[in-house]
This record gives sequence, C-alpha cells and structure tokens, in this order.
Amino acid sequence: MILVYFLASLLATIVSAGNAADLVGTWTTKSRQVITGPGFYDPVKDKLLEPKLPGISFSFTADGHFEEAFYRAISNPQNPSCPKGIMQWQHGTYTVSGDGSLHLTPIEVDGRQLLSDPCSSSKALYTRYNQTEKYTSFTVAVDPYYDSVRLDLHAFDGSPMIPMYLAYQPPEMLPTTTLNPVTSKKAKRQAKVEPDESFNLRALVSKDTLVDPNRWLWVGVIMSAMGGIAMFFS
Ligand SMILES: *[C@@H]1O[C@H](CO)[C@@H](O)[C@H](O)[C@H]1NC(C)=O
Repeated sequence: MILVYFLASLLATIVSAGNAADLVGTWTTKSRQVITGPGFYDPVKDKLLEPKLPGISFSFTADGHFEEAFYRAISNPQNPSCPKGIMQWQHGTYTVSGDGSLHLTPIEVDGRQLLSDPCSSSKALYTRYNQTEKYTSFTVAVDPYYDSVRLDLHAFDGSPMIPMYLAYQPPEMLPTTTLNPVTSKKAKRQAKVEPDESFNLRALVSKDTLVDPNRWLWVGVIMSAMGGIAMFFS
C-alpha cells in the first residue's frame, strides 16, 4: 500500500513537470514574507517596500504574465562584516518551451533594483532592472512535509533554486501592463535613496541566516543565473 502511494506520488511529480498551467498562482519561499504585488513595489510612488524577512516570490497568470520579487542579503567574501542588501522587482511575459524550459521576458522600463552597500555608501542605489531569465525545467508537486504545493525551478545550469510554496491562487500581482510608460526620471538618473530609507542590514543578515541555511548554495545559483548583476559584487 505504501509502495503504491509512493509510486503514485512519484508519477504525479513526473506528470506535473513542465506543465505551464501548474505555474498559475503566487509562490513564495518558506518565510512567506516576500510576496509579489503592491506590498513589494509601489508603482505610484516608484518605490520598493522592504519586507520583514528575506525571500523570493514569483507569480504567473494563465495568460502568460509573470511578476517576480526578490530580497536577499549578499555576502562580501572580501569583507564579511560588510554584506549588501538587494531588492529586485520585475514583471513581463513568460513562455514554456517544448523542452520544458521556462523563459521570462521582463517589460524593460518597469523593473527596479535597490542595492544597499553600507560600507561603500551611506545611501542605497535605486536603479532600473531588466534581466531576461531562463530556467531549464520546473516541477510542481505536493510537498508532504509542508502540506503545501511546491514549485522547484532549475537554473540555466540545472541546479535547483530554493523551493517556493503556493501562497495565492489566483495570483497576487500588480497590473500586468506597462506601469512606467514614461521613463521614470528618478530611476533613470539612478537616484540615491535617503539614508533613512536604506535597509536595516544587520537585521536582514541575522534573519537571513536563521531563515535559510541553504543560502550559500542558492545565492550562488541566483548570481550565476543573473549574470547581469554580477558586476555589482565583483
Ligand atoms: C533589456 O534586456 C534585453 C535583453 O537582455 C535587451 O535586449 C534590452 O535592450 C534591455 N533594455 C533596456 C532598456 O535596457
């Protein structure tokens, strides 16, 4: 009986691999503090809102739109006491190819990044962010341990990302159309955010360590997947 159950769940896992319809919803990492939508990015004030805990979130609609929110501490190997904090947000369209890979194409002018680097600057750097992403495969399956539906994305080199769990269905998202049709002057000239708006990095790093013991692995994965931002950390 147990064997039958095991085989059935294995089959369910295999069957659900790479099926675009299974992506629909809002997904978030274990802490559930990072959720796409107006709680992460305020398009009217053109401002990223710092969550209480680090994490990542993806949303997908049935008609091919995605939104992504990302909040992490980035270690600094040269100077471990000087970590950086980073928030990234973008949205756009997605496709699933015949080989099961997932492709995200952001709306170029809408993405935003906030980088806090307290050791080199007292101010955080707020810029546009535009990064196409490719995941070689994904699976959606029930995770019996968390009693929740789980999404696993595999980066371009096949390595697994930190798992995400289904938070909302239908998804929690900002409008999927272009939010900043007129280029925001603020983001364009890479406006400095005032010091009181930069991250509480000490809290971020200590919470990050508590929440996610896998971060060393997957920060590396993310960093390789988003090669475009690597220059910020070299
Ligand atoms: C956004 O990224 C795409 C793909 O890398 C690139 O072709 C495009 O020129 C970028 N747009 C802007 C405004 O940077």
